Amino acid sequence: MRRARIRATLAFVTIRPFEIADEPALVHLWNRCGLTRPWNDPHKDIARKLAVRPDLLLIAAEGSEVVGSVMVGYDGHRGWINYLAVSPEFRMRGLGRALMAEAEARLLREGCPKVNLQVRANNEGVVAFYQRLGYAIEEMVSMGKRLIIDAPRPD
Ligand SMILES: CC(C)(COP(=O)(O)OP(=O)(O)OC[C@H]1O[C@@H](n2cnc3c(N)ncnc32)[C@H](O)[C@@H]1OP(=O)(O)O)[C@@H](O)C(=O)NCCC(=O)NCCS
Repeated sequence: MRRARIRATLAFVTIRPFEIADEPALVHLWNRCGLTRPWNDPHKDIARKLAVRPDLLLIAAEGSEVVGSVMVGYDGHRGWINYLAVSPEFRMRGLGRALMAEAEARLLREGCPKVNLQVRANNEGVVAFYQRLGYAIEEMVSMGKRLIIDAPRPD
């Protein structure tokens, strides 16, 4: 019953690869969902993704409105998830789950054996979301090193 209701509310939402006309709406969605940071230019992130597997930048659209997104990566060893976002008005209806299912299906088709993702330490609600989808917390230290500076980081 609940699943049927979810399908009905999402009936007009399509998950498809990003198209260039989607860019302003996609960046707007990421801003609204708190996924952007001043030192990380989202337009440059889109341009970089379009240079490497553009088919793996997916959006959820209702008509011309962008209501969700996921950026998927596969490096030949692990799959990666970035920029998973659902517009606040569309949350808790199964769209985040549907975006992740599409991401996983595409990774599986590539033969990808495992998906990794990072959650910002202050984003606790999203951990529960991923756990509902079968993801487990792994005891690791996440490390990174910036190679290209988009904008200076505030002190
Ligand atoms: C995380 C996010 C994508 C979830 O999208 P959503 O469409 O609301 O998720 P769904 O409706 O598909 O939820 C799937 C399941 O997770 C649960 N869930 C979703 N958000 C949850 C939350 N904040 N806390 C606990 N459970 C949650 C749902 O109850 C549902 O459970 P079910 O197994 O009973 O169906 C959305 O909250 C979001 O865009 N957050 C801001 C951006 C963000 O933090 N992205 C992740 C970066 S790592």
